Amino acid sequence: MSFADLRLSLATQSLDFVMQHTITHSLSLADATVLPASLSSVAFTQEQHIETLYIHIPFCHTLCRFCSFHKIKYNQQKALEYFQALRKEIRHVIESGLRFNRVYIGGGTTTILEDELVKTIELIKSLTTVREISCETDPSYFRTGHPEVLNGLVDRMSIGLQSFDDRILKASSRFEKFGSGDEQEIDIRRGIELFPTVNVDLMYGFKGQTPDSVVTDIKRLIQLEPDQITTYPLTLGIGKSRKKSQCLAGEPKDLFPQFLAVKQVMSDRYMMEFPWTYSRNFGQAVENKYVLDGENCFGVGSGAFGRFGEQFQISSFSIDKYIQLINQGGVGTSHHKLLSVKSINQHHLMIMMGKGCLDNALFKAHTGKSLWQAFPVELTYLLASGALIKQGDSYFTTEAGQFIALKMFSGFLAGMDYLREQAIELAA
Ligand SMILES: C[S@@+](CC[C@H](N)C(=O)[O-])C[C@H]1O[C@@H](n2cnc3c(N)ncnc32)[C@H](O)[C@@H]1O
Ligand code: SF4
Repeated sequence: MSFADLRLSLATQSLDFVMQHTITHSLSLADATVLPASLSSVAFTQEQHIETLYIHIPFCHTLCRFCSFHKIKYNQQKALEYFQALRKEIRHVIESGLRFNRVYIGGGTTTILEDELVKTIELIKSLTTVREISCETDPSYFRTGHPEVLNGLVDRMSIGLQSFDDRILKASSRFEKFGSGDEQEIDIRRGIELFPTVNVDLMYGFKGQTPDSVVTDIKRLIQLEPDQITTYPLTLGIGKSRKKSQCLAGEPKDLFPQFLAVKQVMSDRYMMEFPWTYSRNFGQAVENKYVLDGENCFGVGSGAFGRFGEQFQISSFSIDKYIQLINQGGVGTSHHKLLSVKSINQHHLMIMMGKGCLDNALFKAHTGKSLWQAFPVELTYLLASGALIKQGDSYFTTEAGQFIALKMFSGFLAGMDYLREQAIELAA
């Protein structure tokens, strides 16, 4: 092992340890406050602009082994009631004065009741103007559903493939549900033909994956020319969900060579937006997902999170309670938490590292503090581990730094997972 490899290995091991500690401290919901009934409706004297409206659809037909997103097994009656409540909440939020640039519909399986999804998007379009509507789905939707009904309603479709490798699809229980890699390739081709912008999610870090097998997956996907490819490192939660997914994971040491392989194979035709998101290189960046840009977001639906400034908003994780809250005339938010400046800054740090540049002047203009004032320990660690180099007043991310940013992103996903586990307990 070279000195640089050893330095990076030590740096990532200590980072894992520090991140786990940070997540359990800064994202604990022990101090979250219950939203009083009097505040469960939002009302603004004038329009308030929030970048993203996040809408959560918490139903799936069957559950994938690695996934800790909020969802329950599909029940048609419950899902119909849920969509009705969701539209009430959306109407309430917009009529109260909130305005959004973008809408992101995530799940769960967002397309599980197409007619209801169509009605929901049409309602939003009838009440307000948004620049982009983005929706997640899985590949089999383009075979078994009627995706043409979403034409003109969804601007950006994000398709979760994860891998073309049938062994990985079988191990994660996706083969039986969504079909083989060959079948899903045909499905994705159809999705790409139908929607103006398409992202495809891949995952790596599974047991049995190698740099070569990851490259095979990516080359196959690149041939289909999606606008954007998001490559998620398999993330094991730090709570109960870890047990379920840990048998799928490869060795932590195998992640760095896989990351380098991803980066290399993407570099011809795709631009790295973040070390986990790549966009087709037509000279102009495609929009990134709401979770990555650190902008304000309001969440609706059971299991949604939102953040505006230091306020973190948690919607009820019990679907029945959520419907009840909405039928009382309010929003589905059940709890609030005040985020510390430190944890908001750590999110900024991940985004800046991922983007490749820590610009001191920009950071100071945004937060009132210099980078050294905000991150004395972090900068010392990042410079010592070779993750950053200094140029003038700013710092630039090296290749090792890109990998550390990817690990920070995985820590962010684990943090969301930890929040979800606590939110389920709050709802019980
Ligand atoms: C919540 S899923 C919804 C997409 C859709 N239901 C599907 O299965 O294709 C969104 C994306 O999160 C990613 N994801 C889910 N669990 C993950 C985990 N444990 N680690 C890393 N990424 C994960 C997957 O890439 C997935 O496509
Ligand atoms: S990965 Fe998608 S289909 Fe699988 S359980 Fe999670 S949300 Fe449902």
